[in-house]
Amino acid sequence: MPHDAVPAISDYQPTLADDRDAIVAALTAPQKHIAPKYFYDARGSALFDRICELPEYYPTRTELAIMRARADEIAAAIGERACLVEYGSGSSVKIRLLLEGLRRPSAYVPVEISRNHLLEAAAEIAREFPALDVLPVCADFTQPFELPSPREPVARVVAWFPGSTIGNFEPDEAGQLLRVMRHQVGDQGGLLIGVDLQKDTGVLERAYNDAAGVTAEFNLNLLRRLNRELGGNFDLRAFRHHAHYDASRGRIEMNLVSERTQQVTLAGTVLKFAEGERIVTEYSHKFTLHGFASLAADAGFAVEQVWTDAEDLFSVQWLTARR
Ligand code: AVJ
Repeated sequence: MPHDAVPAISDYQPTLADDRDAIVAALTAPQKHIAPKYFYDARGSALFDRICELPEYYPTRTELAIMRARADEIAAAIGERACLVEYGSGSSVKIRLLLEGLRRPSAYVPVEISRNHLLEAAAEIAREFPALDVLPVCADFTQPFELPSPREPVARVVAWFPGSTIGNFEPDEAGQLLRVMRHQVGDQGGLLIGVDLQKDTGVLERAYNDAAGVTAEFNLNLLRRLNRELGGNFDLRAFRHHAHYDASRGRIEMNLVSERTQQVTLAGTVLKFAEGERIVTEYSHKFTLHGFASLAADAGFAVEQVWTDAEDLFSVQWLTARR
């Protein structure tokens, strides 16, 4: 690849070592847990891409279908000369659809924690859209980062937060994150967001317990990563994947369950596990339209449009800043 095809990058990539104290504290808390952002090392990102293709995992394909069907309406809502900021850009499949539909987008700012994934995707987008200013930022988007300055005039900043990643956050944190986005897009800005909807427990539990075991691999990969990057000695055969839907809280909870009483060393700290004890690795909240609208309103956004599929599995929502 010629050197000038590689966009310059703003690099704030955190390593596990930077977060060591917080990770050890979370894994020695009364309820052991770890933040789901640590899933996405190179292998975890590749496993997540495979999850998106699974027959049971409806969110990705449904969101894509909604975006295909509504491309014109979405483009009209966003308008011309937008600076599109994508939170957690992964492999950026959906962004192509969006960019193709938009009228003269000014800039594209993919924000992604996994640096290699970010660079590959940004270089590809820059090749496919030569007129577009591609400004990648390698960062944990839950922490403050500065938006790079586009060279073209920008009519409005639009945040794009696909995949219902908002569901990873507990209600307070989700509200906080939406407020940060609201601040980042400013008073003329907007937020296009994928929001997964509450539905039948069976459909939800199958989506997180796929027959091929890819989600289990994805979950267990966290331990592999802790072993490699934080000097851990987790035995991957001594933990199993578990995912269930808590209907009262409207969320999938993913765990790694200890198969036996055991001790694990991580970054010099001994972690003790009872048989059956769980590490909470991820929440994936599912929303009602009403519940999401009130979360958005508290963060200073008004829901302008909601697009769903015929079965109401998933929604793509257009929010604008409210003063
Ligand atoms: C990327 C956070 C939206 O919660 O569905 C998929 C991650 N975890 N299967 C989700 C995930 C297990 C996914 N998000």
